[in-house]
Amino acid sequence: MTAPGRGPTPARGVASVTPRSVAVFEEMGGDSFIRRNGRVFIQTFYGALRAIKLYPVENEAVRKALDDVAATAANIVRQEGDLEFRVSGEFIFINSTRLRLDLDNYASFSYLLALCRASDVGAVRVLEGAGARDWLTFLSVLQSPSKDAPAARFGQLLGRLEQAGVRTFEFGPPAEGEDDKEFREKSKEAAKRTYSQSVAVTKDVINSVRMGRTPNIKKIKRVVQSIVDQILNEETSLVGLTTIRDYDEYTFQHSVNVCIFSVALGRRLGLSKIQLYDLGLAALFHDIGKSRVPVEVLNKTESLDDDEWRLMAAHPWLGMLALFQMRGQQELPYRAMVVAYEHHMKTDLTGYPKNVRPRMMSIFSKVVAVADGFDAATSRRSYQTTPLTPAAVLQEMRDNRRRGMDPVVVKAFINLTGIYPVGTLVVLDTFELGIVHSANPNPEMVSRPVVRVVSDNLGNLTYDGALVDLADRDEAGVFRRTIIKTADPDRYGIRVGDFFV
Ligand SMILES: [Fe+2]
Ligand SMILES: [Fe+2]
Repeated sequence: MTAPGRGPTPARGVASVTPRSVAVFEEMGGDSFIRRNGRVFIQTFYGALRAIKLYPVENEAVRKALDDVAATAANIVRQEGDLEFRVSGEFIFINSTRLRLDLDNYASFSYLLALCRASDVGAVRVLEGAGARDWLTFLSVLQSPSKDAPAARFGQLLGRLEQAGVRTFEFGPPAEGEDDKEFREKSKEAAKRTYSQSVAVTKDVINSVRMGRTPNIKKIKRVVQSIVDQILNEETSLVGLTTIRDYDEYTFQHSVNVCIFSVALGRRLGLSKIQLYDLGLAALFHDIGKSRVPVEVLNKTESLDDDEWRLMAAHPWLGMLALFQMRGQQELPYRAMVVAYEHHMKTDLTGYPKNVRPRMMSIFSKVVAVADGFDAATSRRSYQTTPLTPAAVLQEMRDNRRRGMDPVVVKAFINLTGIYPVGTLVVLDTFELGIVHSANPNPEMVSRPVVRVVSDNLGNLTYDGALVDLADRDEAGVFRRTIIKTADPDRYGIRVGDFFV
């Protein structure tokens, strides 16, 4: 993303680093040399940074880590004739090939992205002959703690390397190349396809159960797989789509949203891909019992009387039974039944169904309960006409212990969404209105998300407004924009979902 007031064309730095052709970064089948070695390079890069941080420079571990990164880089330069490391948003490109973010490299990716952001580094080209000593200087400066603004740090980085006589690195500023934009567009399209397909299949399944037919679980498994794959590939687009709220489609969208949040949350909690498939499936089916509750009760606008409430509160065990019946024909993990049964129990077991013997809620149930609580409270439903702002819901989930959410899972959820979750309408200190587009990739900036500015400073709406990063500072190191408060989109006639499609 390009910060305000800074054009996409590199204008400073030692040398500009230009993005290469789009074709190269296209996902190709198989594991190419660059993808394989790019990953090794990131690991050794990260390993060296960690070693420098943990040990004195003369330590053997530091020396070895520096030799590793220098050798890996040299190997790529030799084979490819070039080594360009480039970051853009939440992505890392090596020689214009985007590296796949997966569970194993999550920590290294996040750390490198945060470091580059803090020093305004968009691209680094490693030249032939970069030795261990050059790497030591570069990495030490890059990770030295400082409160200076990124632009100032960028200048310091160049200065310190110059002083030390290190000339084997060239730097480029953050710039959104054409290929990044194209990749972003493609991810967005893929996310939309995944989302609408998921809603359609979920609708089919829920309606089948409602009519006493056996649903096609294979189809739903494929849907869950595509949600997991999409989230591992690029999370922001799919999470953004959870803000679309279509009153008529509530039940189906809710299931899909809970699945998306649960998978994104599970990834942060370190679950494996296979576990994420199971979790996603359980999340998608968590309310399947509601298809056994009469529609009049489900859609009732007034508060429920005792009998109606009893019917409603039966959905967890009705869901478990429905899944148990499906298990006869098709492979369905046992965990999905547990989640359907436990998701309203609360961690202190004061929820429903009433618990009869000691139990520990499963981690899947805790995750789904948080995702479910968040989505339900931020949606407009028949019996809840004014939804809370997403930020207020998060605060409630965190601070009100009676909600019975697991504090660790809630914390991970806040890390995922930021204090201001995607889709929150915020008022900025510039008097502009903004809609939160994505959490800040830097975990230290949870209150400074990336925001789409949707009005001028008089409150006149502007469609398709610019994306701005609230962590951006001006030359004096002062934040350009800061959130003053959250606001109700209805008051401004804004449909948040419109800004995500
Ligand atoms: Fe439920
Ligand atoms: Fe639910």
